[in-house]
Amino acid sequence: MKAARKFFVGGNWKSNGSVSSIKDLIGKVLNPHPFDFQSVDVVISPTFVHLPLVQSLLKPGFQVSAQNASLTGPGAYTGEISPESLKDLGINWVILGHSERRSFYGESDEVVSGKIKRSLKSELNVVACVGENLKERESQITNDVITRQLSAMKGNIIDWNRVVIAYEPVWAIGTGVSATPEQAQEVHDFIRNWIRREVGVGESEKTRIIYGGSVTEGNCGVLVGMKDIDGFLVGGASLKKSFVDIVESGKRKL
Ligand code: PGA
Repeated sequence: MKAARKFFVGGNWKSNGSVSSIKDLIGKVLNPHPFDFQSVDVVISPTFVHLPLVQSLLKPGFQVSAQNASLTGPGAYTGEISPESLKDLGINWVILGHSERRSFYGESDEVVSGKIKRSLKSELNVVACVGENLKERESQITNDVITRQLSAMKGNIIDWNRVVIAYEPVWAIGTGVSATPEQAQEVHDFIRNWIRREVGVGESEKTRIIYGGSVTEGNCGVLVGMKDIDGFLVGGASLKKSFVDIVESGKRKL
């Protein structure tokens, strides 16, 4: 029998939000909604500087994530924020390997993998992002790229219970062009099979694989119908009222 996987929706606010817009979003949209946290993990990821504010405002049940963590840990690393500091602050999640980190800040597969290890050691849960760019998709090497990215992480994923894999095709992020449900399902299935082969059957059935890239209230309903899509990582739409609908779309999975 297929193991049930709890639906997961992350709101990646990126470098957006001010004290007043955050108070508005949480006070008027997120807190008033009766989310069923028994059946969905709702993980809000503001900038580092807004983490304490968001923690203090969100009602119980929500979880909070950072968008990055340092590879180097505590010490003489000016400007870096370590997984240890995040844990100390009561943060339980971190997004690692997002394509914007990989492409704008030069994070290699090895750096991402090292960050995953350090974060897991610090007892954070990790949303580990993978995904191909447009050129790679057009060259039909999507599976090779995903395999390379996952293989780099494999040795450093010391606890699969605390990892969510986010498939985010780079060409779909912030573009308004989401992957079709079939395109997403194909890669999610590929990822699940990779985990089955390389890690184990139990891990492949338990690990949540979420989709990200222009998810909206308009397309979440069809995406959620795909067997191997266990939730979403939402950028632009997580700053709007429609984020609630995206979270609620998980009910169709029950
Ligand atoms: P988007 O971003 O929903 O704005 O496409 C997704 C992401 O970057 O995680």
